[in-house]
Amino acid sequence: MDIYEALYTTRMMRRLRPDPIPLDTQARILDAAVRAPNGANTQRWHFVAVDDPELIREFGQLFRQARALEYEKFSTGTGPMVAPAPGSDPAAHAETMRWIKGSGNYLADHFEEVPLLLFVFAIDDLGGANIYPAIWSILLAARAEGVGGVMTLVLRNFEDRVNELLGVPVEEGWKMSAMLTLGYPRGKWGVAANRRPVQEVSSRNHWDSPFGVEVPQPLWPPHGEMTSDLAATG
Ligand SMILES: Cc1cc2nc3c(=O)[nH]c(=O)nc-3n(C[C@H](O)[C@H](O)[C@H](O)COP(=O)(O)O)c2cc1C
Repeated sequence: MDIYEALYTTRMMRRLRPDPIPLDTQARILDAAVRAPNGANTQRWHFVAVDDPELIREFGQLFRQARALEYEKFSTGTGPMVAPAPGSDPAAHAETMRWIKGSGNYLADHFEEVPLLLFVFAIDDLGGANIYPAIWSILLAARAEGVGGVMTLVLRNFEDRVNELLGVPVEEGWKMSAMLTLGYPRGKWGVAANRRPVQEVSSRNHWDSPFGVEVPQPLWPPHGEMTSDLAATG
């Protein structure tokens, strides 16, 4: 797959089919991920794949509780991801939040159908900087395999229970960074078009000076072509 296609179309897919992801596919995804950059190449990361239906059920209950907690924080304006970027359109953000909530509800309601959870642990992930290259590589490699998913943080609200269920050696310093749900998507891949354009979020030499190039439309696919399997997203 063309790298730009992967970069433009690796959307978060919350509507997944229950079909298992073959082990060799899982191996290719993780083998690509461990090539990611990381500080001093210390590779202080660990991935726990969960495909045991009993455990997935257990995590499903926890996920729904954790989400309820997040939305409670959100409704009182105390959550971590409540405010849109300065200068962005609050109405568009509110609409995005409504959409994410609807899509997230689907995932929460169908959590037990997700064929694979991937818990990502790190020792001192440096505020995420030391683990998100690998997490993004997982999602990009998954995209190349036709596998979709979403990265979530909400289970960190129940970190102790997660550690207990997975037998994490916390005394060594391991901490959960994220939990990815992975599976074959029900929907179609689409370009992440709902992003503020380059000229709105970039500048040159000084914060207030224009970047110098306007990009009114996503530059991929070239000439604005859309193949039939690139329509919507899930
Ligand atoms: C740090 C981080 C945390 C996220 N947490 C969640 C989450 O808990 N639940 C969820 O459904 N999506 C989560 N997402 C996915 C974002 O909601 C998603 O990337 C964003 O809405 C844009 O949608 P798109 O990537 O499909 O274009 C998270 C993404 C990041 C980078």
